[in-house]
Amino acid sequence: AGPCDIYSSGGTPCVAAHSTTRALYSAYTGPLYQVKRGSDGATTTISPLSSGVANAAAQDSFCAGTTCLITIIYDQSGRGNHLTQAPPGGFNGPESNGYDNLASAIGAPVTLNGQKAYGVFISPGTGYRNNAASGTAKGDAAEGMYAVLDGTHYNGACCFDYGNAETSSRDTGNGHMEAIYYGDSTVWGTGSGNGPWIMADLENGLFSGSAVHNNAGDPSISYRFVTAAVKGQPNQWAIRGGNSASGSLSTFYNGARPSASGYNPMSKEGAIILGIGGDNSNGAQGTFYEGVMTSGYPSDATENSVQANIVAAKYAVTSLTSGPALTTGSSVSLRATTACCTTRYITHSGSTVNTQVVSSSSATAPKQQASWTVRAGLGNSGCFSFESKDTPGSYIRHNNFVLLLNANDGSKQFAEDATFCPQAGLNGQGSSLRAWGYPTRYFRHYDNVLYVASNGGVHTFDATGSFNDDVSFVISASFA
Ligand code: AHR
Ligand code: AHR
Repeated sequence: AGPCDIYSSGGTPCVAAHSTTRALYSAYTGPLYQVKRGSDGATTTISPLSSGVANAAAQDSFCAGTTCLITIIYDQSGRGNHLTQAPPGGFNGPESNGYDNLASAIGAPVTLNGQKAYGVFISPGTGYRNNAASGTAKGDAAEGMYAVLDGTHYNGACCFDYGNAETSSRDTGNGHMEAIYYGDSTVWGTGSGNGPWIMADLENGLFSGSAVHNNAGDPSISYRFVTAAVKGQPNQWAIRGGNSASGSLSTFYNGARPSASGYNPMSKEGAIILGIGGDNSNGAQGTFYEGVMTSGYPSDATENSVQANIVAAKYAVTSLTSGPALTTGSSVSLRATTACCTTRYITHSGSTVNTQVVSSSSATAPKQQASWTVRAGLGNSGCFSFESKDTPGSYIRHNNFVLLLNANDGSKQFAEDATFCPQAGLNGQGSSLRAWGYPTRYFRHYDNVLYVASNGGVHTFDATGSFNDDVSFVISASFA
């Protein structure tokens, strides 16, 4: 059985079921998600294998030598409640038309029972939505939700959510949302410790219990795979959570609606959001693997069976990198492969990261400026960071998508901005260096300056022309 078979047996059927990793009904054989590739704009759908796990190999072959975005996350419930690129609302997204960004198809690789699959890696600016969903709870009607998330990928911005929200993409008032929130925002509510927490986004408030601010019963929770559940019915709601890889769910809150005005009764509108707030606030980050919304208030017993099903799916980590291996502690130089520039290497001039012509006969200073010590990724040890050879303690990081050489300030933001995941070079040469936190973006030289660029994004440096060449670098032993 799949999670939605279990919810059906419990009398609270799924009315939306989303996953890029597996079928959520044992009999589901339809598409899980659609990807679109950068080379020619073609799309394809990815379906489950006979095991129920997504056919990641089909994605890998369709996307070989180019970039791919997740364009549609299909609803497996049969109601057509698919998730697509979120439109502008109270806030605009970063795309030129105010839409949010789409997720990279390769940002969140995992295995389920040993078979590779990809989750949905939500960077700030990314979001999915369905403002015309059918069958989802409206008003004060009962519903349940769960999601499997990456407990190490979060931030404090508003709002990495999955669940029920406004059909207008605007803040229409307290109680107009009921969604799972995951992250360490402290603006509205907190649980115990420093977070991240599972909370409920009920609009104009992230709630960890009935009180408006701190509810100590809601613990910080950061397993690599987190099961998060929120459910609500008249006069009652609950937060539950656990480790998706083992054990059972705990109840972190179960009780009355918040006493602040507007939350009892609720005024749910029934749209579905992923990765954003009700008003299209899109500063948050997180990773989504699977999740559902139900009709009716699921029993704890039903949710416990769903948790057992998730544990049996055996989510596990897998490599974030491919292509030529990098060795931590080694020193490297990175040579451009675009025809214009094959004698140019990634160097720095002060805090500017650019390319310059360097050779074995160059002076010591330029050789050192073009030499980088490979470190375990400051923000994720499955990837890498590049420390300047001549300025120890300073690393290549992106800021506003421009690469800079900055001293490590010890912050989580810096660590994440300085973490890059090499993969086989998109043009077939060397390596392409994907920004861990923005996996649509790669080291790119553009007018000899280094950026993290996406293939066809809104910035000048995101231009599609010569993208594959500009993002492919041959990495070799360093000059200095
Ligand atoms: O409730 C928190 C956030 O407040 C909602 O997600 C958003 O719509 C509003 O900004
Ligand atoms: O480079 C993109 C983002 O810009 C970085 O993550 C952040 O430091 C800055 O806001």
